[in-house]
Amino acid sequence: MKSKNEVVVKRPDDWHLHLRDGEMLQAVLPFSAELYGRAIIMPNLRPPVRTVKDAAAYRRRILNCLPAGHGFQPLMTLYLTDETPPAEIRLAKSEGLLTGVKLYPVGATTNSEHGVTSIKKVYRVLEVMQELDMPLLIHGEVSDPAVDIFDRESVFIDRELQPLRQAMPELKIVMEHVSSKIGVDYVLAAEKNLGTTVTPHHLLINRNSIFAGGLNPHMYCLPVVKREADRLAIRQAAVSGDPRFFFGSDSAPHRLVDKEKAGGAAGVFNISTALSSIVRVFEAEESMDKLEAFMSLNGARFYGMPVNPDTITLQKTETPVPATDNIPVGRDRVKVFQPREPQFWQIVDGLRQTK
Ligand code: DOR
Ligand code: ZN
Repeated sequence: MKSKNEVVVKRPDDWHLHLRDGEMLQAVLPFSAELYGRAIIMPNLRPPVRTVKDAAAYRRRILNCLPAGHGFQPLMTLYLTDETPPAEIRLAKSEGLLTGVKLYPVGATTNSEHGVTSIKKVYRVLEVMQELDMPLLIHGEVSDPAVDIFDRESVFIDRELQPLRQAMPELKIVMEHVSSKIGVDYVLAAEKNLGTTVTPHHLLINRNSIFAGGLNPHMYCLPVVKREADRLAIRQAAVSGDPRFFFGSDSAPHRLVDKEKAGGAAGVFNISTALSSIVRVFEAEESMDKLEAFMSLNGARFYGMPVNPDTITLQKTETPVPATDNIPVGRDRVKVFQPREPQFWQIVDGLRQTK
């Protein structure tokens, strides 16, 4: 850190990102690629990224949207289904192409129809992952409609995650996008092989935001944002610099037509505002010295990867940075997730060309 108004950190990474495909991919990728070193790319496309071959092709489509030799590295994941053969994991390991395997409980979220119907069914695959040191990325919510939506994370921990960790203590697990105090406490109690990504929106808003001024679909994501006490627990853990907590935007763009309707899609597109709002959180919590751990060090360490060699510089401006409300995608638009407070932090060095 240089002064109160300037901060230099190693180039950050995004350990949980939805880039989609086609024209959406083209529209949203530059926001990640200009700033982040690496990002873990979620596999919940339609159809999902189910094989090593699918992942290789998707990676190529991503890189084709960037200038040759651009430094952004998409880290690919597989979408686990009841039918994924253990051999696919062995192939993934030998090809060295995959960073992890994503487990969506069936029906838990967007494009999870092909997800796992019961974790017991995929135990063989998980054993192979444990053996090969392949991380498991979990959407940690039960999809049981009898369980209150605000309890789905804690029930998942009790019913699924704890038994799994006991059965496979060497399996490296990321319980993605922690959203509750119970989830935070669970990660804090883990001695090893468990980490969690933290999203900007779970740091910034609580469930009141979904209803403030009328029902707002642009505050709807999964896991759904919870009580203020949950938000504060997530904030405290993130700004503590604890290595088990690291940035994963969960930026999840949907067209307005898909968000602003009955049965609207879960997910917020936050990547263009993510870093400046997170700096604001660390500043407000007087923890700027922990920003680099959260954004640039902890995730790399968890995944056993080197920290990015270069740095970025942010400066605090005197007047708020003008906010973009939405971006065009084809004939439609995607709304940018905006914290209520104005943004004052701007990246002044380290942005990369994406065209
Ligand atoms: O809000 C969310 N949106 N949560 C998820 O788990 C999936 C994501 C998406 O793909 O839109
Ligand atoms: Zn996600």
